[in-house]
Amino acid sequence: MAILEAKDLIKLYVQAENKLYAVNRVDFSAEDGEFIAIIGTSGSGKSTLLQILAGLDRPTSGSVKIRGNDLTKMKADELSRFRGRFIGFVFQKHNLIPQFTALENILVPTVMCDREEIRYEEHLKKLIDGLKLGDRLNHLPNELSGGQQQRVAIARALINRPQVLFADEPTGNLDRENADEVLELLLETRKTIGQTIIMVTHDISIAERADKIYRMDDGHLYLFRDADGKYRRNSYEEAAEMSKVIAGKTPDSSNQ
Ligand SMILES: Nc1ncnc2c1ncn2[C@@H]1O[C@H](COP(=O)(O)OP(=O)(O)OP(=O)(O)O)[C@@H](O)[C@H]1O
Ligand SMILES: [Mg+2]
Repeated sequence: MAILEAKDLIKLYVQAENKLYAVNRVDFSAEDGEFIAIIGTSGSGKSTLLQILAGLDRPTSGSVKIRGNDLTKMKADELSRFRGRFIGFVFQKHNLIPQFTALENILVPTVMCDREEIRYEEHLKKLIDGLKLGDRLNHLPNELSGGQQQRVAIARALINRPQVLFADEPTGNLDRENADEVLELLLETRKTIGQTIIMVTHDISIAERADKIYRMDDGHLYLFRDADGKYRRNSYEEAAEMSKVIAGKTPDSSNQ
C-alpha cells in the first residue's frame, strides 16, 4: 500500500523577471517500508522536493498525501502535530540547536510529541550505541565534528520512531566506514519499525542499496532504476513528453 502519494507537484520561485521551477510536475509514491534513493546534480531540486514531501515546505500546486492525509490542506499547527507523529527529517545542514547539548537535541522531538507506546530509554540507548555517540552526549554541537553532528541529527530524526524518514544527504559528512554504518543502522530500524526511507544522496554505493532509485533533473523526477534492478535511461525524455501531452504544454514552455 502506498504510504506516501504526491500528485503533480510544482514549486515555482519567482524573483523579479526570473521564474524557476525547482519542482516541475512531479508525481511520486512510496510503498510502506520501501527505501527510495533520490540522486541528481546540485540545484536540480532534490532538497526542495524532499521538504515538500515532508510537509516542511508548501508546493505552489499539487498534493502530498501520507496515509491518505493531504499535508497541503493542513493548517500549520495540525501539520506540525502530524509531522511530530509520523515524520522524521534529517536536514542537509543538520539544523541542530546550538545552545542544546547533543542529548538535548536528540530529545527535542519527544517534547513536542511524546509517544507513550515508545520505550524511550531502550530506544535511545540503541540509537546512541548504533551511532557511536555515547561519549559525546553532553557536548554542544560546536564541540562536535561534522560527522558527529550529522549522527546526532539522525538520532533526533529517529527518536519518535517515524513511519516515514526523510534524509537529505545523511551521510554527506561521513567517511566510507561511518557512512556504511549509518546506512546499516537505518536499514536495521527499518526492519524493526518498518519505516519508509526516502533519501537524497550523492553516494552511489548507498543509492544502490535502495529498492528504487529516482533521479532529479531540472525539477523533473524520473525513475532511474526500478525494484527489479533495471535501469531506465530514457524515462526522463518519456516523462517530459508525457507531461506535454497531458498538459497541452509544459510549465517550462509557458514561461518563454
Ligand atoms: N527560497 C528559494 N528562493 C529561490 N530559489 C530557490 C530557493 N530555494 C531553492 N531555490 C533554487 O531552487 C533550485 C533547487 O534547489 P535545491 O536546494 O532543491 O537543489 P538540490 O538538488 O537540493 O541541490 P544540492 O545537491 O546542491 O543540495 C536551485 O536552483 C535553487 O537555487
Ligand atoms: Mg540539497
